[in-house]
Amino acid sequence: MDRLNSLRESTENCELCSLSQSRNRVVFGSGDRNARVFLIGEAPGRSEDLGGEPFIGQAGKMLDEALRQAGLTRSELFIANVLKCRPPKNRNPKREEIDMCGAFLVEQIECVDPEVIVPMGNFALRFLAGKKATIGEMHGEMFIWKGRTVLPIYHPAAILYNRGLEPVFHLDFVKVARILTQSKGAA
Ligand code: URA
Repeated sequence: MDRLNSLRESTENCELCSLSQSRNRVVFGSGDRNARVFLIGEAPGRSEDLGGEPFIGQAGKMLDEALRQAGLTRSELFIANVLKCRPPKNRNPKREEIDMCGAFLVEQIECVDPEVIVPMGNFALRFLAGKKATIGEMHGEMFIWKGRTVLPIYHPAAILYNRGLEPVFHLDFVKVARILTQSKGAA
């Protein structure tokens, strides 16, 4: 079995934290296992916990529309979350949950080996930035994490609550598409 599949199996059997007791499905992540862009959300919500795929609810529709407008498709990305199991009532992830589940995410990133990582929202950003940063402060500020370009953007659910952010959210994906074209051109 290859490393990504064996990692999937480990997450599906994981009982490291109490979320394993309340989950319906583990949401490992999906997309191209050789993707050049890796999107990171926070944690599965209700739809994802039932369906086993990331971003298949309302926030996912917002994400799909932004991807479409930027000329990107899910099939050329990899999408995963900081947590692989849904926190009850969609509460915020706890520190210890992030520490345990984050190890899976790091290994997933290593397996996919993307050029660009796009943390969506504060939890994904903090995981990579290693400090209590907010998207409000760091939105659009690129930085490097383990040799990869990171572009922090708003979480799609934030756009559902504040439609004023929608143009910014769409432009961020245009930026992602542009980074890909430029780095391909340079290669
Ligand atoms: N929100 C997330 O952060 N991830 C999902 O998969 C769905 C909603």
